[in-house]
Amino acid sequence: MASAGLLLLTLAVLNSAGSSQTFVKIHCKTQNIGQCDQESRLDCVIHYSEGDVEDAENAEILAVIWRKEGVKESVLKYENGNLTSLPGYSFAEPSWNNKNVNVSLLIHKTAVKDEGVYTCDVFTDSGYNTNHTRLNVTAKYGVPTIQPQPQDIDLNTDGSLTCRSTGYPKGRLSWFDKDNKPWLEQPKVEVLTTESGLFILSSTLNIQRGSAFSQYTCKVFNARGDKEAEKSFTVQDKPSIGGLGQDAKDTKDSNMILATKIVAPVLVVGSLIVGLLVLLLYKRRSQRDHQAVHTAELHMEEGDDQETEGDVQESLTTGETKITLTDDH
Ligand SMILES: *[C@@H]1O[C@H](CO)[C@@H](O)[C@H](O)[C@H]1NC(C)=O
Repeated sequence: MASAGLLLLTLAVLNSAGSSQTFVKIHCKTQNIGQCDQESRLDCVIHYSEGDVEDAENAEILAVIWRKEGVKESVLKYENGNLTSLPGYSFAEPSWNNKNVNVSLLIHKTAVKDEGVYTCDVFTDSGYNTNHTRLNVTAKYGVPTIQPQPQDIDLNTDGSLTCRSTGYPKGRLSWFDKDNKPWLEQPKVEVLTTESGLFILSSTLNIQRGSAFSQYTCKVFNARGDKEAEKSFTVQDKPSIGGLGQDAKDTKDSNMILATKIVAPVLVVGSLIVGLLVLLLYKRRSQRDHQAVHTAELHMEEGDDQETEGDVQESLTTGETKITLTDDH
């Protein structure tokens, strides 16, 4: 008997304690999604669930406190007729007053750091209630950038392509070939964080000469797995000397291209040397003609013209003209 009485008493106490709670109830959207740099609204409305309509209409809000988990200060506080808030926060209702049941919080410029759980406490002359709601922040991933390495990559050079895109929350990057088939071995996606908390995804695809395709596409997918954007890169097919660049798919052709790459400069340098030699020869010849005349005159007196002429001719070809000439005399 005693225990039954105690139970009844406990229930009565609990009921009376809970009655003020149930009279005032805050209804919040459990999940809110905010776009980075845009306004976000955390929707919460007060419901007076008991008593007559008149009571509800006359109910006065004494205090509203909005807090964010992990933030010491309240982000918004209405108390004793005073409204204070951290910069960038306000009531969603532009001309809110203490009879307005819409106590939704407005975040003016949403940032990644605003993500989290918010608590709303309301004190009215007819009771108190608290509730919480969550804000998830998203930032749409932009069109990726593709950075080639080296800058002037073509089908005949080893290199890589780095794809980058920034957004929130964490998404992924995927490479596709020219037939829009996903690359079998997707490179690991590196993740960096910007100062404002956004994720920079980057993925580097290595490309080997000879086995390179002409076109690569990088697609960025958001956290839900939906494609947000894509970017294609065309690897240049630079025609080399002799038009061998066209089908440089196998190593034989690559070797030939390599050969022409070596041969071309050799040809250029070689013809330069030949040209210089011709110039030198021409200069020497005119010099020799001049000296030959002189020598001939000298030797004419001695009568030994033929031999000297031959010596000069020979030394010219070996490039030791002057010495021979002066040694002779
Ligand atoms: C609260 O007020 C805002 C701003 O006027 C409005 O957009 C929103 O729909 C209101 N919420 C409810 C639940 O009425």
